Amino acid sequence: MKGHILGVRNLTTTETEQLFDLARSLKHDRHTRQPAPLRGLSIGLLFQHPSLRTKASFDIAIHELGAHPVYFSNEEVRMGTRETPEDVARVLSRYVAAIVARLRSHKELERFAAASTVPVINALTDFEHPCQALADLLTIKEVFGSLEGNHLAFVGDADNNVATSLLLIAPKLGVRFTLIAPHGYQPRAAVLQQAMADGNALVTVVDTPDQADLASVNILYTDVWVSMGQEEEQHRRKEDLRDYQINHALLCRCRSDCIVLHCLPAKRGQEITSDVLEGPHSRVFDQAENRLHIQKALLQMVLAKE
Ligand code: CP
Ligand code: NVA
Repeated sequence: MKGHILGVRNLTTTETEQLFDLARSLKHDRHTRQPAPLRGLSIGLLFQHPSLRTKASFDIAIHELGAHPVYFSNEEVRMGTRETPEDVARVLSRYVAAIVARLRSHKELERFAAASTVPVINALTDFEHPCQALADLLTIKEVFGSLEGNHLAFVGDADNNVATSLLLIAPKLGVRFTLIAPHGYQPRAAVLQQAMADGNALVTVVDTPDQADLASVNILYTDVWVSMGQEEEQHRRKEDLRDYQINHALLCRCRSDCIVLHCLPAKRGQEITSDVLEGPHSRVFDQAENRLHIQKALLQMVLAKE
């Protein structure tokens, strides 16, 4: 592994498998082993959007690996207004061993990473959320034992950052992937093309749940209809996506052992009903926990090569 993790495609399949193995061992040994492979290092956390899971899990991951997290909110850095992304990256690179960045714009993240001399890890942009997708796949492996042979249906805004990262990695690792979304919310052509290049037979896009092979679905996944930065479009989005909800009726049409995933935060009553989110099929809090373990593994792998 070398350099930045701006998207799931920055990891080879072999590296991804190694990442899952390391994450599982770190999870298993969390309370019995005291390794500090990153002792003496500092790692920057730069966030332009709010966060609970990503900020907490990275901060704690860094601490548990023996390094020191340094957090910067948008209010203090004001990247793009107070100074350029390039200058922020060049300055931070002189202080820290790696930078975890949640930036509004993926293009800005690419500019930032191009100027950084230390590895940059994407903690969510308007295009990808790679750490989320990796934690989700770890969760699927834990529940079903492997990735191959599973059928994941993503319902709702299938063009958002979480759907994109999942689509760019899951079929490549053998997960059958169905996207259920209306026109305007289906994956953009370039992403679909890339995903299909690896897992052609495994990727399907349909307009409605009725067009999907729900009976073979064992993973139902959704995310908010209005992502951070899209607040001005919220009325249109809620209207357009109102029939794309994960609820009891939809779950009943899937395999009996179907699990329900959601990256959180959730809008109960919009993309998912409360009874399903809280019900026996839900694995959303395992997903949230796995952010910690996968990011510990990712930091360790990224910095081992430095
Ligand atoms: N799933 C996720 O990334 O949550 P936060 O926005 O709270 O970090
Ligand atoms: N798609 C959501 C994910 C939040 C973790 C957003 O970008 O707001």
